[in-house]
Amino acid sequence: MRVLLTAGPTYEPLDPVRFLGNRSTGKMGYALAEAFAATGATVTLISGPVALPPPASPLVTTVRVETAQQMYEAAAQAAPLADIWVFAAAVADYRPATVAAEKIKKAGETLTLELVKNVDIAATLGQSKRAEQFAVGFALETTDELAHAQDKLHRKNFDLVVLNSLRDAGAGFGHDTNKVAVLDRAGQVLNFELQAKSELAHALVALILNRYAAVYA
Ligand code: CTP
Repeated sequence: MRVLLTAGPTYEPLDPVRFLGNRSTGKMGYALAEAFAATGATVTLISGPVALPPPASPLVTTVRVETAQQMYEAAAQAAPLADIWVFAAAVADYRPATVAAEKIKKAGETLTLELVKNVDIAATLGQSKRAEQFAVGFALETTDELAHAQDKLHRKNFDLVVLNSLRDAGAGFGHDTNKVAVLDRAGQVLNFELQAKSELAHALVALILNRYAAVYA
């Protein structure tokens, strides 16, 4: 089994010393990489800037990138060779329209930044997903969670979508624990209890491999 996994945030440069980013730590994605490797799968982990060491397993190849564009290029290279795609990265939806060559100096009382849309890695790769490939996305919503997650599943051609709960203490960015619900294309919702990200990763990998086997065996 070959797995492509994206993880962590992306950093979008503004000038040589500044960037736009987000609070993703990569913990969930790295835990998934370890959990897939523990089943004997070969993993290409495409990681944005995180403080975590690369997973120790020799089955995991870690490719470090910074921007959404770099993450897309690395993912596009690995995607045709992978059986399962897991998009756990918190990709910046927009980047600064221009990157200043020199540090931007302080000037007026306000500063307006122009942003342009980044490539949607999951949606773009989803368009070339082959029948025997299986894609898993993540969603983080604050309103109408299930409806938005269901919409993302279809829009990005996912087979499963993992919905992060923001309402529960101990879930999401920066925490060592997480609570998620998984939605499938049939509209079924599976709820996972609050648990350590490492434990949850094993449970999610078992579910993904099980669904993959059921559909493509
Ligand atoms: N994703 C991606 N590339 C992007 C944005 C998102 O690959 N440029 C992936 C994420 O890794 C995740 C899924 O798409 O698996 C959903 O990400 P999310 O940010 O929730 O979705 P968006 O399409 O950005 O929708 P919105 O921000 O409008 O909720």
